[in-house]
Amino acid sequence: MRLVIDTDAGIDDAQAIMMALAHSNATVEAITAVTGNVHLDQVVPNVCTVLDLFDADIPVYPGAYRPLVASWKPAGAHIHGEDGLGDWPGRKPSARKPECTAAAAALVELANRYPGELTLVALGPMTNIALATRLDPTFPQKIRQLTFMGGAIAARGNTENVTAEFNIYCDPEAAFIVLDAFSNIRMVSWETTLAHPLPWSIYDDLLATTTDRSTFCAGIGATLVRLLRDGAEQYDGFLIPDPLAMAITLEPGLIRESETRYVTVELHGSLTRGQTVIDYGKATGKLPNVEIVTRIDMEGVYDLYRQMLC
Ligand code: RIB
Ligand code: CA
Repeated sequence: MRLVIDTDAGIDDAQAIMMALAHSNATVEAITAVTGNVHLDQVVPNVCTVLDLFDADIPVYPGAYRPLVASWKPAGAHIHGEDGLGDWPGRKPSARKPECTAAAAALVELANRYPGELTLVALGPMTNIALATRLDPTFPQKIRQLTFMGGAIAARGNTENVTAEFNIYCDPEAAFIVLDAFSNIRMVSWETTLAHPLPWSIYDDLLATTTDRSTFCAGIGATLVRLLRDGAEQYDGFLIPDPLAMAITLEPGLIRESETRYVTVELHGSLTRGQTVIDYGKATGKLPNVEIVTRIDMEGVYDLYRQMLC
């Protein structure tokens, strides 16, 4: 499987990228960076740091430094830290340099190099993918499969617009363009993320092994773990939105339940801008464009974590 990963490398993005790098059937052809959790200028070195862990020779293309129309607001240092990787003091600076080609142009070039072969995984706002679609209208048809982490399937978001999830809310126009242009999309929503936490007992076991990779994951996740485990709203486990999207991309057999519907994005609502709108009742007459993944085999996800941490 030839993969291209578009990311706003934050903590869960880093784990998703590690999962792909460790998978025996995946070849990561490129990583494209986008402003989201943190600014692009921080996303690029964060991606390079992850690649250093695997000594992986993979090009990194810097992309959009801000959303298409919306003003940019970071996810918040309380989640991903100021630097996007939990402000972990143990991280080593990377000597890697990104490519000079802009991400959108690189996406178009990669799709032309591997027509019909690329699986594109979007882990952040879809600004780069929207721009690629505007550079080359045939770009979507050349992509074998697009998986994105984002959206809400029951209006339970995680932003100030309560029905909007961060990746979509950060750049609603980009998400609208991408959902309108692609027809072979898989979606892992915020509600699906909440329904599939990495239980604390499993998380602790996974990170008990002292490898560079487990030390890295434990280090970058420490602040977020404290927030999720002991914060005002306590969760049954570590939330892993991007790793879930990556897991079902790497191994679609882990999808236990899904439904295919027409999905678009609200751009104007004062309370609902950035909400993914799902046509459950086929009222729009539009053809379904998204396979909404709602249940995932977590034993398989744990195995992917074990693979990436050893
Ligand atoms: O809402 C969760 C998503 O927003 C994840 O991709 C996380 O990394 C942030 O980008
Ligand atoms: Ca992300």
